[in-house]
Amino acid sequence: MSKILITSALPYINGLPHLGHMVGCLLPSDIYARYMRMLGNEVLYVAGTDEHGTTSEVGALKEGMDVQAYCDMYHARHARTYRDFNLSFDYFGRTSSPQNKEITYHIFEQLDKNGFIEERTVKQVYSVDDGMFLADRYITGTCPYCGYEKARGDQCENCTKVLEPTDLISPRSSVSGSSNLEVRETKHLFLNLPKLEKRLGEWIKTKEPFWPDVAYTIAQKWLKEGLQPRCITRDLKWGFPVNKPGYEDKVFYVWFDAPIGYIGITKQWADEKPEERSWKDWWLSAGDVRHVEFMGKDNVPYHSITFPATLLGTGENWTQVDYLKGMSYLTYEGGKFSKSEKRGVFAEDAVKEFPADYWRYWLMSNAPESSDASFSFDLFAAVVNKDLNGVLGNFVSRVLKMTASKLGEKVPAGGMDGDLEKSLAENLQTRVNDYFKYMNEMEFRKAMNELRGIWVEGNNYITLAEPWSVIKTDEARAAAILRTCINLIRIFAILSAPVMPQTSESMLSRLGLTMADIPNIKNFNISQELSALEAGHPFTVGEALFERITPEKVEELKQKYGSSK
Ligand code: 2FM
Ligand code: ZN
Repeated sequence: MSKILITSALPYINGLPHLGHMVGCLLPSDIYARYMRMLGNEVLYVAGTDEHGTTSEVGALKEGMDVQAYCDMYHARHARTYRDFNLSFDYFGRTSSPQNKEITYHIFEQLDKNGFIEERTVKQVYSVDDGMFLADRYITGTCPYCGYEKARGDQCENCTKVLEPTDLISPRSSVSGSSNLEVRETKHLFLNLPKLEKRLGEWIKTKEPFWPDVAYTIAQKWLKEGLQPRCITRDLKWGFPVNKPGYEDKVFYVWFDAPIGYIGITKQWADEKPEERSWKDWWLSAGDVRHVEFMGKDNVPYHSITFPATLLGTGENWTQVDYLKGMSYLTYEGGKFSKSEKRGVFAEDAVKEFPADYWRYWLMSNAPESSDASFSFDLFAAVVNKDLNGVLGNFVSRVLKMTASKLGEKVPAGGMDGDLEKSLAENLQTRVNDYFKYMNEMEFRKAMNELRGIWVEGNNYITLAEPWSVIKTDEARAAAILRTCINLIRIFAILSAPVMPQTSESMLSRLGLTMADIPNIKNFNISQELSALEAGHPFTVGEALFERITPEKVEELKQKYGSSK
């Protein structure tokens, strides 16, 4: 048994998650956590809301709320949505927690003591009417290159030129619209990454054989270009006040305390039951822990460079990332998800339309792994109708209905296995081995392909074995076939559990079993599993597992959620 620490990138509090966020880190981390638990590992799976920064202040301002109340409300909405999606966090915490503050302060003190923090004076735009310094992206004006009137101070969305706020013509605050702006000098603290570069480079080199190519290449590219000192404080009110004399009126930059949040959230979890849990067992001098991180690819530099450097600079023995899975992007009907333009499916609404498993399966079978992927309702309906309803659901109801009507609601007795069962077991064992291989490697698309292949093997078997014809002449042989099929239902339920936990539970319950009956899958032997349910074991037929999505429903959904760019 190994100790596996699994983290999902912490979603920003103010952006309610859409399907792209779900597949970008939350769902794959959940599937991996569930799978690792089924292998008998000791898993700690944590995530939470990333709450600090200008976007939360501005978001609260726009909704006329106090920032704390705004974050409390959105935290609860995030938590509820992830519960509805059946994410199996051991703890879903918050970066604004007192635990995270304590650890952030400690890490900062260590960095400062070790000489990795430096002071610099920078020039920044101050909005007199808003009474605040504005982050570059909160300044709007006309692009000097293309004349686009809504260019942001960091980049022009229209011509993609990277800008400085001072480049903009007629700049104004995006918070209030005021053009009463001044450039003021302000003091900030910087993490001296160049001083940590050598140590970081050596550490990253040790990861080459283990990290996926994408992550390793991104980290190498950053190192090659040379690291720059990184500003870790901001002139804002919402955040952890900087624990250094002269800086009390500033706060830490959101990206400084966000990844520390993984540790802070673990401490939130431990503080609930301090007599049996210790956050240090997972984070400090915890040599037996394997840490796997999930994130969108834009987050890779922070997790492979900035955060590891932060931890290295403390001189303490923190758990570093052993494997990081960076996902590409999911687009919606070929374009961007946009709440303001009412385009795309947000997770909160998704589970009101269909059970979470429909989404979980579709998203993971189409996961944007080696390249971006696109969601469309046509594709969604096709996969649900074909794989879930047509292959898996149909097999389950056909087998249970036929057995119940011809032989009664018990696993039938009698008959012998033959060549068909032998080749079924061989084919399945190969498929199952591949499924486990891909799950271990976190190649989810390929894993889902194997899972579907496993269900297809069941369908092929019943088509070849023809119990509906055999029963007319040889009831004992039909009993043997249907016994195998009922055992296949149990096997499908076990193997589908990481991705479709509710469906799995529903299949098991027909067989009088629960999730607690799922065995450790470490040495999953198909021949043994094919005879796990013995003759006489009762079952119930139950309702259809899935519902077909009609073309009319697809049209309705396209109208409701926006179908083109
Ligand atoms: O990109 C994002 O959504 C960030 N909120 C991710 C933070 S991950 C971690 F560092 F907290
Ligand atoms: Zn432009």
